[in-house]
Amino acid sequence: MSGSAVVVCGLQWGDEGKGKIVDKLARNAHAVVRFNGGNNAGHTLVVGDKKYVTHTLPSGIVRADQNNLVGPGVVCDLDVITEELQIALKHDARVFLDRSAPVILPIHIAIDKGRELAAGKRKIGTTNRGIGPAYEDFWSRRGIKLGDMVSEDRIVARLRRGEYYEERLAVTRHLGVDAMSFDEVVAWLLEYSETIKPLLVDTRAIVSQMLSAGMQVLFEGAQGVMLDTVHGSQPYTTSSCCTAAGVSATFGIYKFERVVGVTKAYATRVGAGPFPTELHGEAGERLREKGSEFGATTGRPRRCGHADWNALGFACRVGGVTELVVTKADVLSGFDQVRAGTSYVFEGRPIGPHETLTTRVLEDSIVSYTDFPGWSEDITGCRRIEDLPEAVQNYIQEMSKFVGCPVTAVSVGPGRDVIATSNGFV
Ligand code: IMP
Repeated sequence: MSGSAVVVCGLQWGDEGKGKIVDKLARNAHAVVRFNGGNNAGHTLVVGDKKYVTHTLPSGIVRADQNNLVGPGVVCDLDVITEELQIALKHDARVFLDRSAPVILPIHIAIDKGRELAAGKRKIGTTNRGIGPAYEDFWSRRGIKLGDMVSEDRIVARLRRGEYYEERLAVTRHLGVDAMSFDEVVAWLLEYSETIKPLLVDTRAIVSQMLSAGMQVLFEGAQGVMLDTVHGSQPYTTSSCCTAAGVSATFGIYKFERVVGVTKAYATRVGAGPFPTELHGEAGERLREKGSEFGATTGRPRRCGHADWNALGFACRVGGVTELVVTKADVLSGFDQVRAGTSYVFEGRPIGPHETLTTRVLEDSIVSYTDFPGWSEDITGCRRIEDLPEAVQNYIQEMSKFVGCPVTAVSVGPGRDVIATSNGFV
């Protein structure tokens, strides 16, 4: 394999600003590939004075002639894909969908919502997009794949096998939520089939051929390591593998030239679940307002907090990260001090980044912080890391030392090119 596989993944609880980083790296890539999650993601791209938010198609859909692939491990909402195809069309970008990618059926959305309602105060705070129930069917080897949509017979056979759809309907009756009947869902799927059919390919074969031909393939992760089903804090996680392992699992690729981990200069989380460095009250509110921390997918206000380097070190380790990109450093301009969580004490024992941050550890640890001098300068004009004020450089260097990964870029504003880079970031 002579080409190169580059992965971009989030290191926190999603919303790290991965879309912009993928957009930037996409200039040198022959294809951009989504490999996990579904339309629970919202990748914001600011192109000139236009803002686009992509949920399922890769961030490369705003680049002319770019190849955009949706892999076999991405759960697909047909409405969302249809809408996003318009953005790709407008930019003359190409889109290919894997035949094996699972379809999110309306019944998955109904079950997701029903379960959240049933959980009441103990809800996960999912995006209500049917992600968990769709993955559940994928792993239990049922459901509809995009490739099944080519014929009514295949759709019907899939839905009838083992009384699959009947069983799902029984779940909705149990939860007391409405769902499409068997005939309605068949008709619903057929409505999309003409749009989907021409885009169906074997993405694994395409990627393998591209790499053999010496091309660069950029893999775009959704969510973040702290939301990963295995490494995150269950049940407050998403239902997919958010690290480079998600690329290995779904594309059979094991060698990566770069694994670019993206982290905000501070931390945010949407939905329920432990967040050790969370800021409550006015301090959290100030960060939320300054950083416009409202969900790109659901519009929900994000919970805000100090950076958590202990969690970041853990995420870099289990994520196999080779370099860090820090985003939203400009949001911290004007704070006297910048604080980072640098150690946890759990049940009287220090916990380091080499240990697993289980739900209990995250819920019950006492965090110790290290304070760094803040900065007041407007840094949005800096384009090289060495142009950043000393206090920013110091903060970035200390972060890099702590987690053992070089920082190759620091994003200093939302625009496409508003980023300070080092020579290592191309
Ligand atoms: P689900 O992925 O919709 O099942 O939601 C599970 C958890 O992951 C919830 O806490 C969501 O808020 C969170 N989540 C899922 N996708 C994203 C994302 O792209 N950004 C931030 N949080 C997310």
